[in-house]
Amino acid sequence: MFIQSCTRVCEKLCCESGFCARIGAYYYEDMVNREVSLGRIRPGDRVLCVGGGRTPFTACLLAEKTGADVTVIDHDPTVIADAEAFISSWQLLKGQIRCKWQDGQEPGHDPYDIAHIALQVTPQAKVTEAMFQLAGCEKVLCRIPKPGMQDQYPEAFVQADCEACTDRVAHRGARMAAETVLFTKDAFVKEGAVG
Ligand SMILES: C[S@@+](CC[C@H](N)C(=O)[O-])C[C@H]1O[C@@H](n2cnc3c(N)ncnc32)[C@H](O)[C@@H]1O
Repeated sequence: MFIQSCTRVCEKLCCESGFCARIGAYYYEDMVNREVSLGRIRPGDRVLCVGGGRTPFTACLLAEKTGADVTVIDHDPTVIADAEAFISSWQLLKGQIRCKWQDGQEPGHDPYDIAHIALQVTPQAKVTEAMFQLAGCEKVLCRIPKPGMQDQYPEAFVQADCEACTDRVAHRGARMAAETVLFTKDAFVKEGAVG
């Protein structure tokens, strides 16, 4: 209860103040740097970020670090107004970003080059499949939990599910994510991971 209240206060500060958002972004910064290299995200790439929450740090950092055209979605309608406030107070220096209320399992038919799937997204396997089958992605980046944290993320991939991944980067420090894995469409289909 205490942790949830603190989280809510921090989220509110970050949605109202670009300065607070930039400080909060330090938690994500080096993870996103590694993910940009792993996914080889370039200016103008169409990136779909699934699970932005009220404070879509990852989506803003991805757009700003690469100049990509980012769409960030969340299936919880109650977070969208805060996410839009966060994006506008962030004041993006590079790239573009828009926010939509949408479930990653039904991403619509707008075409994307690459997707990024947050650790808390449920279920990660179905959303990854939808990225290849429906959203036209050639690549998917997915954060997976540390082994001891799997109970907290029961619908996340575990290591054994990631045999079809083509590359990965490890995250260190006080992070819930152990790694980000890269799936490419060809390898994912060949492995039979797409039904
Ligand atoms: C708490 S956020 C974490 C994002 C983090 N702030 C970042 O920048 O990486 C995770 C969000 O994922 C959303 N989510 C979970 N499953 C989803 C799905 N299938 N489609 C879209 N959003 C989803 C949740 O509603 C939650 O708001």
